[in-house]
Amino acid sequence: MKPEKPQPILLKNYTPPPYLIDTVDLDVVLHPTSTRVRATLSLRPNPAARKAGGPLVLDGELLELGAIALDGKALDPAAYKVSPHALTIPHVPDKPFKLDIETFCDPEANTALSGLYRSRQIYCTQCEAEGFRRITYYLDRPDVLATYTTRIEADRETAPVLLSNGNLIKEGRLASGRHFAIWHDPHPKPAYLFALVGGKLAAHKDTFKTMSGRKVDLAIYVEPGKEDRCAWAMDALKRSMTWDEERFGREYDLDVFNIVAVSDFNMGAMENKGLNIFNDRLVLAKPETTTDGAYADIERVIAHEYFHNWTGNRITCRDWFQLCLKEGLTVYRDQEFSADTRSRTVQRIHDVRQLKARQFPEDAGPLAHPVRPASYIEINNFYTATVYEKGAELVRMIATMLGRETFRRGMDLYFERHDGEAATVEQFLQCFADVSGRNLDQFMNWYNQPGTPELVASLKYDARAKTATLEVEQVHGPSPGAPKKKPVPLPLKIGLIGANGQELPLKLANGRDAPDGVLEMSKRVERWTFRDVPSKPTASLLREFSAPVNLTVSHNERQLEFLMTHDSDGFNRWQATQDYAMRLLIGAVKTLRKGERPTRPSAYCGALAAVLADKSLEPAYVAQVLAVPSESDIARVLARDVDPALIHRARRWLRKAIGAELGEHLAAIYEASDDARRYSPDAKSAGQRALRLGALGLLAARGQSADIARVTRHFKDARNATDEIGALAILSALNVPERAEAFDRFYQRWKGDHLVIASWFGLQATSPLSSTLRTVKQLMTHAQFSMRTPNNVYALIGSFAGGNPLQFNRPDGKGYAFVAERVVELDKINPQVAARILGAFRSWRALESARKRLALRALEKIASTPELSNDAREIVTKMLD
Ligand code: TRP
Ligand code: ZN
Repeated sequence: MKPEKPQPILLKNYTPPPYLIDTVDLDVVLHPTSTRVRATLSLRPNPAARKAGGPLVLDGELLELGAIALDGKALDPAAYKVSPHALTIPHVPDKPFKLDIETFCDPEANTALSGLYRSRQIYCTQCEAEGFRRITYYLDRPDVLATYTTRIEADRETAPVLLSNGNLIKEGRLASGRHFAIWHDPHPKPAYLFALVGGKLAAHKDTFKTMSGRKVDLAIYVEPGKEDRCAWAMDALKRSMTWDEERFGREYDLDVFNIVAVSDFNMGAMENKGLNIFNDRLVLAKPETTTDGAYADIERVIAHEYFHNWTGNRITCRDWFQLCLKEGLTVYRDQEFSADTRSRTVQRIHDVRQLKARQFPEDAGPLAHPVRPASYIEINNFYTATVYEKGAELVRMIATMLGRETFRRGMDLYFERHDGEAATVEQFLQCFADVSGRNLDQFMNWYNQPGTPELVASLKYDARAKTATLEVEQVHGPSPGAPKKKPVPLPLKIGLIGANGQELPLKLANGRDAPDGVLEMSKRVERWTFRDVPSKPTASLLREFSAPVNLTVSHNERQLEFLMTHDSDGFNRWQATQDYAMRLLIGAVKTLRKGERPTRPSAYCGALAAVLADKSLEPAYVAQVLAVPSESDIARVLARDVDPALIHRARRWLRKAIGAELGEHLAAIYEASDDARRYSPDAKSAGQRALRLGALGLLAARGQSADIARVTRHFKDARNATDEIGALAILSALNVPERAEAFDRFYQRWKGDHLVIASWFGLQATSPLSSTLRTVKQLMTHAQFSMRTPNNVYALIGSFAGGNPLQFNRPDGKGYAFVAERVVELDKINPQVAARILGAFRSWRALESARKRLALRALEKIASTPELSNDAREIVTKMLD
């Protein structure tokens, strides 16, 4: 039989579920290869369903059915049907009824890490998006909300800790070394928020007192022996709880909040009600093994999952098309938490860098989709940068247009109106329309259209009338499935800077006001005229990156230098440094293509020196200024005929030139900061280390033997992971004998720590040296590498494919062929991870013709594989469309 072609699920076909489930009682007897689940479901016909009655179709996958009874009576085998994806009961009562279902599943065989599986002897679950159907037959959709009671039984010896959602209501010992625990979660929830954990775990405990004075027991469960690495995550959790109370008035709603760290996990972490499950790399921290970047990631993700308790769990999604309702909003909330906790400007720079690096290429290529897609085949493919990060930008624009207070009132109304419900994006927007009295219908275009809009801006000065006129046009190019688009409303935050560098007051000629410098546009072309402008100003546009667009404005080098020194908006001042560097880089690519050498960037280096000399700037900010656009940033801006080898050479040229021209400044920065103090992961200390490493890297790019010696010394003297890994990353790009020694030394030192070894894999996979592909192939056979551990796969194959443009795009095509083979191999083990790795090809059509042909060949090879998962099939098909 030919496998059925998977049919896309369409938003427009949404219908409410024909049945509802009020309560779920689970009795789970854990066993490595045959876990028994008895489920008692109380169901009833849904009064809101369009047609009453009809068959009951429960989702189920990879389950072995034991017994089934309806209202206490065993069902005759003729009364139901089992297929690979469902259990169908054609006739059920038209009033409330109970179903008892016994099933068996195999956690050890579960390498897809969806449903119930084992990670290093620990039983755990991942149910989002559709994993619960691998635990029991169920209406596995987010608009079916039930209260859960879960009894777990296991060996006391191998699984002394048994956890599920909600509060522990009973536990006890049983005969022959067994024990049980019963958990009850009073909050109705969809199945994707269910979780269960069993195993040998140690806890780091604490308590939190909520704003109304209730005490919450907090615990982070980790592999025994790692309890001493939980303090940072716990601290971040308590700060997140306080922040959500203060900033959004949201209090925690259970007596316990548990977090479990596991080593095998498809994504970062999961917000299961009262029992968050984390990839251990986002929990475990200590200065010797955890970089500043990882500390910041832990803080952010702990906050993100905690914030889901209100945005995602208390108010969930009606269907998976509404995924951005919880993810975009929760990313916006975690970004705001980080901005309030760290430096707002540096955080914004970080978030925008990330958005442009991950989301813009997605939106410009074959995988482009709206923030709220209209169709999907495999929902796991839609946990994307577009849904998460562009989704967060859309929420941010609403906040900018409405102002902080009105935005907060809209959020309050959303929580009040939809608590306990499964909501839609329209319902979310309606809350902001209601509190502001504005019509936000046009804003839905942002949710429904793919692609990054382009803003083309120009400023004209009339010296006689002393007016300046800003004209902005929004241009929407075609995207796959969306040839024509409608204009979108957006906030454009601007400033006009006078000749002496002073900020000019924004006085609109038509009397309209621009509060906080925010102009709003909603038509394709808009014009604003400002009066009382004494002399020709320089425009600072899209301050704070007030909308997720590509801005085209023809600033010359002199204007860029002016903005680099005078812009009072920290974000745009940084943006000017990047725009200037980008101009030089694009120019250098063209010059190198002609076989010529680019000229020295002296004016740019001079402007950079002025920024370095500005003592009012925080080190973390200056570090962002020193980080010139990445190779993929340059490729994105070039957009076509991309030659990654030329791009690499251009970027090397610029970094070398900066190192050479500003050597003394950089050396002074490096020598001035002392790292004698005790390590602290706070943003200020991290910023100093980042600046120092930035200077060290540019000096190494200069390439004198003293510079190499400085890096080697930094590596050997390092007393924290940031400095050690930071120096190793610099060495990794250098073809010097010290390089191999450093990697060996690092391995010997950290071979007992799988998280550090993942960084060791990653650093080797991202090296620009021509031996890298050979090294990566060798590392695949390393004793510590396993295709079953996503962290290993992401570190070695993922960072080669997605983080090493030079070697992935080798002119001989061997990089493509290698990754394609791994995708096919991985697809049999873990389709979700395979589809993510495959995403590395998303910009293949932008390549120059020879590489494009080779990439196409690799993609066609994947597409011709007979037994591809829906996950990989959907991605490769779109890629070739
Ligand atoms: N909801 C999770 C988050 O963003 C995402 C997630 C975790 C996930 N694990 C997953 C999504 C597995 C799909 C599959 O916080
Ligand atoms: Zn999330």
